[in-house]
Amino acid sequence: MTKFLPSSILVAALVLAQCAQSLKLYNQGHATRIQGKPRPSHVTGPLPRAKPPPQWLWNDVNGKNYLTVSRNQHLPTYCGSCWAHAATSSLSDRIKIQRKAAWPDINISPQVLISCGPGDGCHGGDAAEANMYMHESGVTDETCSIYRARGKDNGLVCSKNEICSTCEATCYQPKHFYKYRVDQYADIEGLSRADQELNMMAEIYHRGPISCGIAVTEALINHTSGIFHDKTGDIGIDHDISVVGYGVDADTQEKYWLIRNSWGTYWGEEGFFRLIRGINNLGIEGGSCAWATPVDTWSNAAVERKEVLTNEITMKKPLWHQFWTIVEEFVANTEDTHLYRRLQLLRNGCKRRVLDLNESRILSPRPQEYVADEDLPQDWDWRNVNETNFMSWSVNQHTPQYCGSCWAQAGVSSLADRFIIADPKAYANLALSVQYILNCRGAGGDCHGGDALQLYKFINQNGIPHVTCQPYDANDDGSLDDCTKPNKLICKDCTWPPPKLGEEGKCWAKEKFRRYFAEEFGGITGTQDMKKEIFQRGPITCGIQATDRFLKYQGGIYHEDVGQAVLNHDISILGWGKDAASGVEYWIGRNSWGTFWGEQGFFRLQMGDLGVEDNCVWATPSLKH
Ligand SMILES: *[C@@H]1O[C@H](CO)[C@@H](O)[C@H](O)[C@H]1NC(C)=O
Ligand SMILES: *[C@@H]1O[C@H](CO)[C@@H](O)[C@H](O)[C@H]1NC(C)=O
Ligand SMILES: *[C@@H]1O[C@H](CO)[C@@H](O)[C@H](O)[C@H]1NC(C)=O
Repeated sequence: MTKFLPSSILVAALVLAQCAQSLKLYNQGHATRIQGKPRPSHVTGPLPRAKPPPQWLWNDVNGKNYLTVSRNQHLPTYCGSCWAHAATSSLSDRIKIQRKAAWPDINISPQVLISCGPGDGCHGGDAAEANMYMHESGVTDETCSIYRARGKDNGLVCSKNEICSTCEATCYQPKHFYKYRVDQYADIEGLSRADQELNMMAEIYHRGPISCGIAVTEALINHTSGIFHDKTGDIGIDHDISVVGYGVDADTQEKYWLIRNSWGTYWGEEGFFRLIRGINNLGIEGGSCAWATPVDTWSNAAVERKEVLTNEITMKKPLWHQFWTIVEEFVANTEDTHLYRRLQLLRNGCKRRVLDLNESRILSPRPQEYVADEDLPQDWDWRNVNETNFMSWSVNQHTPQYCGSCWAQAGVSSLADRFIIADPKAYANLALSVQYILNCRGAGGDCHGGDALQLYKFINQNGIPHVTCQPYDANDDGSLDDCTKPNKLICKDCTWPPPKLGEEGKCWAKEKFRRYFAEEFGGITGTQDMKKEIFQRGPITCGIQATDRFLKYQGGIYHEDVGQAVLNHDISILGWGKDAASGVEYWIGRNSWGTFWGEQGFFRLQMGDLGVEDNCVWATPSLKH
């Protein structure tokens, strides 16, 4: 059987995608081509190639979005990691598809690939080889290994911490964490170009997004909206993207691919673009697409999903733990609660209420005023309402270093969840930038704590950009003065080359990007009012006393009587329930300590415990553009 591909086009297929769009612009060289290297693959089952329907878009299957969060490979600094992004986002999306979009979204970490995988880290690689690595070695999620845009080629060589870590005084690998794996993987092959297109469509329709190589032209870099149609004829593959669907424009009848890029949501159509289909535009049907299936680690609840490492390091207790032990002994004998509270803040307190809970902006009746007690359901859980998960992505505030940003993490994720609840289609997978809040000292807070109500006041006045404008790096170096005019601390973009260790690289302030605003905000306390607010409008942000025992929580309904709670931590409350066996009523909460903590980063807490009903805040999303 003669294949369409072997000769010149196979060379294109063998191109090591360099993400080197800037190479062309800056005339610094060409993408490396590896000729004659055998393509990696592992295929154990038949390829699903039954005729696909004429249109299939994974961002809208009967109104449901099966795609995961958008990314920006070029932040915090430039990195040619398109290949790792294309492969990991395709895998994340396929896991979501297989799990029927049920909570939680799993965001596979591209950082593991650029530090530990094949290829040249930030100087390029190949999505098919990324699939091979994820098949052989497995991979973790973003809360284990946050994207830092530095690879083994420029400063972040592979170590246990690059696989999974979290930080206190020092960073260490948690005892247990989730690992994910690729099962089968291969390139998509066709006997002709039309056959190639059809096989791409069939693979996408039957199993989910695929990774493909394309050529990057200047016009593509400048692209904003509409179906992209390159007129330069460039088919030199130097970029990898993920194809998440295909369709036909209703007006023009133009056939297109729906493509996820990794250049931030300020690029293209919210980070995506449509490319004309069927004419090998930008080389997309030239034979450089790869697919990979995930190993099912979720269907059988009996399967232990956390991998235990046998060679784990025993962590020394950080200094502040030892310090706190002394303090606890001291305050145990004092009646001075003011002193106690202040000392508590010295510990790991990341919550610091500055505004009175009565500080508010209330323009419409609050649910506590119009929802009747009897209208409240027995249980409520925004992770599953009408078989839909309304949660934005999960985060870890303590990576790549320790940072007491709980107040911003909890406040921002509650608000992002509420955008998704208010309009799941328009705000699917919305993730907002906590780093912007820290950089701009937006709410007065920093890595040593802050106030979620002040945060909402700030977001009401200034808005907050998407996380792809300013990714989290657990830093609080900026100031409000820096944020009055366009500044790299607000939203930025970076270009070639990947900077050497210790260098910042070529970055600049982005001026055109979207800001998301809070409309109304206020404080709330007490079980019934909290329930009404959550039920009607979405998650709220509450202070709790995070005790040493709570730090070690691994699941179940948490119970601890601390007496008069000293609130030192902010979390998000998104529902409630009642345990059938014990009759215990509990809150369902989201923490910001990674997916390896608690129940996939979430928890259930007995009502009345840890001061959870004492000090909560809420904000509504502004849906005006
Ligand atoms: C892309 O945008 C830059 C900057 O605005 C402009 O100089 C250049 O001509 C544009 N190129 C194309 C092909 O549109
Ligand atoms: C409400 O807030 C205002 C302004 O911060 C403050 O002066 C007032 O004492 C507060 N009222 C209550 C009841 O806390
Ligand atoms: C869930 O479905 C019910 C009945 O169709 C509808 O009234 C309600 O608005 C839906 N809730 C959400 C959050 O979509």
